[in-house]
Amino acid sequence: MSVKIGDHIDLGNFPLLLAPMEDVSDPPFRYVCKQNGVDMMYTEFISSEGLIRDAAKSRQKLDIFEYERPIGIQIFGSEIEHMRQSSEICSLANPDLIDINYGCPVKNVVCKGAGSSLLQDVDKMVAMTKAVVEATHLPVTVKTRLGWDDNTKNVYEVAERLQDVGIKALSIHGRTRAQMYKGQADWSMIRDVKRNPRIKIPIFGNGDIDSVEKAAAWRQEFEVDGIMIGRASIGYPWIFREIKHFFETGQRLEGPTIVERVEVCRTHLTKSIEWKGEKTGIFEMRRHYANYFKGIPNFKEYRMKLVGLQSHHEIHEVLDEIQHQFTEEII
Ligand SMILES: Cc1cc2nc3c(=O)[nH]c(=O)nc-3n(C[C@H](O)[C@H](O)[C@H](O)COP(=O)(O)O)c2cc1C
Repeated sequence: MSVKIGDHIDLGNFPLLLAPMEDVSDPPFRYVCKQNGVDMMYTEFISSEGLIRDAAKSRQKLDIFEYERPIGIQIFGSEIEHMRQSSEICSLANPDLIDINYGCPVKNVVCKGAGSSLLQDVDKMVAMTKAVVEATHLPVTVKTRLGWDDNTKNVYEVAERLQDVGIKALSIHGRTRAQMYKGQADWSMIRDVKRNPRIKIPIFGNGDIDSVEKAAAWRQEFEVDGIMIGRASIGYPWIFREIKHFFETGQRLEGPTIVERVEVCRTHLTKSIEWKGEKTGIFEMRRHYANYFKGIPNFKEYRMKLVGLQSHHEIHEVLDEIQHQFTEEII
């Protein structure tokens, strides 16, 4: 059965979503995930205050490209009126949907009453969501957590009430705010939400999916409509194609060769430069090298070289060297 968000977004059977990730899920990273079969993606979260002030950082995060569709712009904030206005601003950027962040656990977001903080005030969350829904012609979705802490796991109520004010899908990270990223994600409440006969919208499970086996097992066990993957895709966008291939054929794909790793790294770098210019593009790429070559013995020396270089020609030369060196070693 095809999973639909609103009337127009058809994600096919059991979609895989790229989680919104600040400083990670920017257009260059999204490009390599798209190449590897992800079904839907989101921007990094964008501050509603920033959007209204027209801050450069927030505006740049609105950049989306045709080939990325379907794509959602994610917003967060604490003021209902600012979220309403942001919804209008985001709609002009023409994404496929708008997603609201009620999950971010980070102190300086929560302190201001945004992100997962709204889990402590469901009435306000509902009013905010309603305002965003009414301000746009686009489908609105929400990403949240199980609740604020162990004593107040309220996602069941949250799901019903947000569906009632018109959201079209809900992604649930199987942790509370108090857990931050610690411990194991618990998807059993996500299954409870999915089993609630009142819930008609797609429910996406999120948290700790880091292998084909886990994706297959948790799909079965927790009955979600699709899976959202964050950290495991960083430096490993192949996770999407590996999971998809497994679901389609029952067979495990081989992991990427060194040639593929180098290739994707080059593409990511090229897209980064195209998007942000040579200087910033090269600078922002530095955090990704170690991830692309995880598990390769003695990579540190190459990483040190890569992060010290200022010109993309030199970086490509080092990538040539890596390809050469490790292809030979593996042979
Ligand atoms: C570096 C980083 C940045 C993140 N930024 C966002 C964000 O902007 N918006 C959001 O809803 N969640 C954000 N998250 C949370 C992820 O979307 C996801 O819920 C979380 O990482 C759990 O999924 P995973 O175990 O597959 O990584 C971020 C997570 C990480 C690691």
